[in-house]
Amino acid sequence: SLPIAVLVSGSGSNLQSIIDRIAEGVLDAEIRLVVSNRAGAFGLERARKHNIPTKVLLHTDYPTREAFDAALVDSIHKAGVDKGGLVVMAGFMRIVTPVFLSAFPHRVVNIHPALLPAFPGVHGQADAADYGVKISGCTVHFVDEEMDHGPVIIQAAVPCQAGEDGNVLGPRILKLEHRVYPQAIQWIAEDRLTIRDRHVDLKVSGRPKAEQP
Ligand code: GAR
Repeated sequence: SLPIAVLVSGSGSNLQSIIDRIAEGVLDAEIRLVVSNRAGAFGLERARKHNIPTKVLLHTDYPTREAFDAALVDSIHKAGVDKGGLVVMAGFMRIVTPVFLSAFPHRVVNIHPALLPAFPGVHGQADAADYGVKISGCTVHFVDEEMDHGPVIIQAAVPCQAGEDGNVLGPRILKLEHRVYPQAIQWIAEDRLTIRDRHVDLKVSGRPKAEQP
């Protein structure tokens, strides 16, 4: 199974969806470590409840982004996740530097509650609703050096009606997040994704029909 590290800053409901899909046997991954940059993140509680190792790394303890990222890489490596594993950002509200990304090339994913490249940032749901879009959704993508940016793996859409704000739209989007994030991670566990230019290809799963029993 795919060794993964999950990075959280908050509630960790996406972490929970990953934990649950692993428990159900539909996601072939193993969470080796949950890291938070906030000591009080509820995501840490969720991890502890499932006996998953946790680590708190406060960015305020480090002089630079690079120093923080180096410590992050070190913790993740020590937990047994390297280039062959996967780093899953699940509500992790930090931009990572090349120090971090070069340790896990094409092996860092993020989820964002809007249809990127529209409405990046920390209030994707509210920004889309306030703009008056009729459709929004969520995006799972490989992470690059820009915030909420990088090759798109999967998106899912929800309708948005006049008068609905981020508080209405947010939970509707979150429901979809909990479906698509474990799906995207399973594709990576099955080694079905390739990145060509900025485009992510999904290989068809399973053996050719003739070979099937
Ligand atoms: C999720 O909605 C996620 O898409 C969003 O933070 C929330 C975390 O919820 N991420 C971003 O906005 C990234 N820019 P969770 O802690 O319950 O998984």
